[in-house]
Amino acid sequence: MNRIAVVPGSFDPVTLGHLDVIERAARLFDEVHVVVVHNPDKNAMLPIAQRVSLIERSVADAGIGANVTVASWSVGLLVDYCTDVGAQVLIKGIRSQVDVAYETPMAIVNRHLAEVETIFMLPDPSHAHVSSSLVRQVAALGGDVEPYVPRAVYEYLQET
Ligand code: PNS
Repeated sequence: MNRIAVVPGSFDPVTLGHLDVIERAARLFDEVHVVVVHNPDKNAMLPIAQRVSLIERSVADAGIGANVTVASWSVGLLVDYCTDVGAQVLIKGIRSQVDVAYETPMAIVNRHLAEVETIFMLPDPSHAHVSSSLVRQVAALGGDVEPYVPRAVYEYLQET
């Protein structure tokens, strides 16, 4: 049986912290689906198609693309995507107790809904402070986000 994991998120934009989780997931599973999920609670900076494209380029640039698929999901439950592609596992990066508190109810509900397990992955300490919201704020105020994002994202933000 193929072991398939889904790494979901807003990825607005993808950061080096996300890329670290994707890379480590790709080593553990036969297939990894990185899924850009529309989160109605957040004011998005980038359109979903742009976020998908930046993840695809970042994954390819990092040389971790062989078993990684990038997709988007904007209608219905995330576990429905998991069922569609035969994924047994969701992977979430956990930076702090705040993340644990936010993620725990979703993990329990996703297991009740579709028997999809959630695995929490600790980030490398070098990325523990990095978030998309921080990148959006620094970029909007004209600061340098190069240390926090893949090159494709850095170049895209420079151009826009
Ligand atoms: O990067 P984010 O914004 O922290 O990602 C949160 C996300 C998109 C992974 C989360 O909001 C999510 O899982 N949404 C899916 C909607 C869903 O299925 N909800 C019901 C069960 S939790």
